[in-house]
Amino acid sequence: MSFDLIFFGGTGDLSWRKLMPALFQAFRHGKLPAGGRILAVARDEQDDDAYRRWLKDRFQDVEGAKRPNDEEFARFAELLHYRRMDLSQPADYAGLLDWVATRGADTVVLYLATSPHLFPQICTQLGAVGLNGPQVRVVLEKPLGHDLASAQEINRVVRATFGETQALRIDHYLGKPSVQNLMALRFGNALFEPLWRRDSIANIQITLAESLGVGTRGDFYDRTGALRDMVQNHALQLLTMVAMEPPSRNDADAIRDEKLKVLRSLQPFTEERVARDVVRGQYRRGHVDGQPVPGYLEEAKVPEGSRCETFVALRTEVQNWRWAGVPFYLRTGKRLAQREAQIVVNFRPTPHSIFPGSAAANRLVIKLQPEDGLELHLMAAKGHAQGEALTPVSLDLDFDKAFAEDRVGAYERLLLESIAGRLNLFVRSDEQEQAWRWVEPVLEAWRREDAAGSGGPAAASALVARDGFAWPEEQ
Ligand code: BG6
Repeated sequence: MSFDLIFFGGTGDLSWRKLMPALFQAFRHGKLPAGGRILAVARDEQDDDAYRRWLKDRFQDVEGAKRPNDEEFARFAELLHYRRMDLSQPADYAGLLDWVATRGADTVVLYLATSPHLFPQICTQLGAVGLNGPQVRVVLEKPLGHDLASAQEINRVVRATFGETQALRIDHYLGKPSVQNLMALRFGNALFEPLWRRDSIANIQITLAESLGVGTRGDFYDRTGALRDMVQNHALQLLTMVAMEPPSRNDADAIRDEKLKVLRSLQPFTEERVARDVVRGQYRRGHVDGQPVPGYLEEAKVPEGSRCETFVALRTEVQNWRWAGVPFYLRTGKRLAQREAQIVVNFRPTPHSIFPGSAAANRLVIKLQPEDGLELHLMAAKGHAQGEALTPVSLDLDFDKAFAEDRVGAYERLLLESIAGRLNLFVRSDEQEQAWRWVEPVLEAWRREDAAGSGGPAAASALVARDGFAWPEEQ
């Protein structure tokens, strides 16, 4: 199967840091279908050779294991091409169409690795020259919009040019092997399904903790914040995969229909709920590995006095028969003590204890990163005395060790899926819009709280409300 993979924003950070290294890994692993061309499109004036030399230099900044040696790069570089484009110029799209038409590849993947404000313009121009035929797919990088209205506007423009099955919205968490394993755990094994419900599960906790700060992305981050950057997409996608009903087939729409139902069943936020069930924070200066690190407000390009949240924790429920009353806790933040992403399923305690001492309830830990594995916490008897107290033990599964040879990174996986046209790991527009619909009341409540003349932090209302009272202006 021949393919053309075209990167708009071909000299941008995402392209050289993530996409090209991922493609190179696919090439190295022999997974890239033969007969492909990779085209980087950007504004700079340069030819294929200059681009290849530039990319080779950039690879020096990529982590060691993902760096090609000279011979590997030379072979990979044969696939690489470069084309200058001014994205506002219709003639440049006509030129691109000619480039594509001379080859007539079976599949054309257009990867928009540009700033999202260019998506509408690019899609419209692609449609105008007819680069939207059935063999064409467009891949859209996050952030897809800033709120529900902007996400809907992007989707409207994309839909005017491409059908839903041609538009692949990236959430790179869906490409992580650990997230694939979550599907396998739930729907490839019968063991947990009878327990996977309110009768056996006390609560579910999803943590996406990062140790890094915002680095050089202070300006972008300050317009975004943790709720938009991590909760609206990655954390909610994980929640849907934990909470969804078994899909009838391993097929994109069957899976996405079930995920959408979960998003639609999430308990809606009212202003009181935001005050009670959502916590936000911002990191201050401190130490990481013994080294001093700046606070968020001291980071480059962060506006003075910003209230942008770098941490969010929230509680929600999935309002359906399976999950009624089971709290789902989500938390994410930058510059936390360690990088750790995991889902913890806390089971209910035994109904009646016959052993001395306190018994911990069973816990299933789905580890996403840095390790990729499963831990099942059980109670065991050491067997050294009659009537002994039980001891917590855990069954550990390390998927990195078990499948070391076959592990494929998130972007590598998603690029390969986009070429193959398999949509299971991409987000459908209705899922994405529903996720925005759900987080918007939180953004709105924070906006009101931050406005001059508000009654102070919402936590103040929650403080009084917990005792069943209210401040005078709220009565
Ligand atoms: C991105 C966010 O989507 O995910 C970043 O924009 C965040 O702020 C990153 O650091 C985390 O991804 P990962 O794969 O490192 O957990």
